[in-house]
Amino acid sequence: MTYSFLLIGAGSIGQRHARNLVQLGETLGGVFNPSPEKARQISQASGAEAFTSIEKAFEKAGNYDAALICSPNHLHMQHVKLCLSHDLDFFLEKPAFMSSAGAGPVLKAAAKRRLKTLVGCNMRFNAGFIEFERIVRSGRLGSIVQLLAHNSSYLPEWRPGTDYLKNYAAKKATGGGILLDGIHEIDYVRALAGRVSGVSCLCGTCGGLGIETEDTADVVLMHAGGARSAVHLDYLSRLPARWVKAIGTEGAAAYDFISGKAVVRTGLVAAQEQDLHEDRNRMYVREMEHFIRVLDGKEKSACPLADGLSDVQIADAAKKSSARSGLMVKV
Ligand SMILES: NC(=O)c1ccc[n+]([C@@H]2O[C@H](COP(=O)([O-])OP(=O)(O)OC[C@H]3O[C@@H](n4cnc5c(N)ncnc54)[C@H](O)[C@@H]3O)[C@@H](O)[C@H]2O)c1
Repeated sequence: MTYSFLLIGAGSIGQRHARNLVQLGETLGGVFNPSPEKARQISQASGAEAFTSIEKAFEKAGNYDAALICSPNHLHMQHVKLCLSHDLDFFLEKPAFMSSAGAGPVLKAAAKRRLKTLVGCNMRFNAGFIEFERIVRSGRLGSIVQLLAHNSSYLPEWRPGTDYLKNYAAKKATGGGILLDGIHEIDYVRALAGRVSGVSCLCGTCGGLGIETEDTADVVLMHAGGARSAVHLDYLSRLPARWVKAIGTEGAAAYDFISGKAVVRTGLVAAQEQDLHEDRNRMYVREMEHFIRVLDGKEKSACPLADGLSDVQIADAAKKSSARSGLMVKV
């Protein structure tokens, strides 16, 4: 069975998902973007009906099987509510919301309507991460004591040729800040080590980029099962780095998202290395393939709205903790 999608927000990630879905043989039935040229571009490439009014796009909600919400962060709540009122399943880009305030009733309504939802957690569909997760879950490392995750980049180099100060990341009103941008790391440590019961964090705007939002965050998460995670996030490093490491009672494993190198060592034998580098788009294709199987009813969503909201609650708690000089905040 193939599906027809309504794309909301035809920016960089929306265009990517639209391209990937069409290549997977799905139909892009409609595209909404307030600036007409972007909607038109996608419409010309895919045959989708272009809308510059969200109301007009939702008048035809019955024509679509699901929505792809790829709008700026501060609009996610509004677009999720529209999907709820039209009983439309949805994929929602990360972070689910800018904060968890007011999200409880939205989550209840989605559950009541039994909507199929997936929040963008694309790092979990990276080939190397899939292997890392397989090793962690296999028990080869014994009990997991600690997860370390590191995501460091330089905001001015994110989008060459554009002014980073105009990027949503730089402004509070559009839901910027490294805690929400780097929510992938919070998401996958929660998925791997389980529910988070407490959060301690120091974050701030310290790097002279002239942005309103926090540019660095060091977060410690206490998992209810006893493991601990340490997550470092920043927009400031001219030496980009993105990696994850698991320390267990019987071994350790690490994966470097940039080089694609995975390493595992158990006992006292030499570490085993694998090269799992792949084209970056592959993980986004896998993410959409997964969403299609969720719509088919063949797979459980890897990150339903409830989990996406848990990640945002952790980010909220991290900000609260930092405002109290790193005091542990219960989640
Ligand atoms: N998972 C990932 O790898 C990833 C990567 C980038 C962005 N994102 C997320 O995707 C979302 C979009 O980011 P982006 O990088 O594509 O941003 P972008 O700035 O490239 O695109 C945003 C688009 O939304 C449009 N827009 C503005 N107002 C709108 C409205 N009222 N309704 C609908 N669309 C509107 C803009 O015109 C633009 O086309 C953000 O939530 C971001 O956090 C995720």
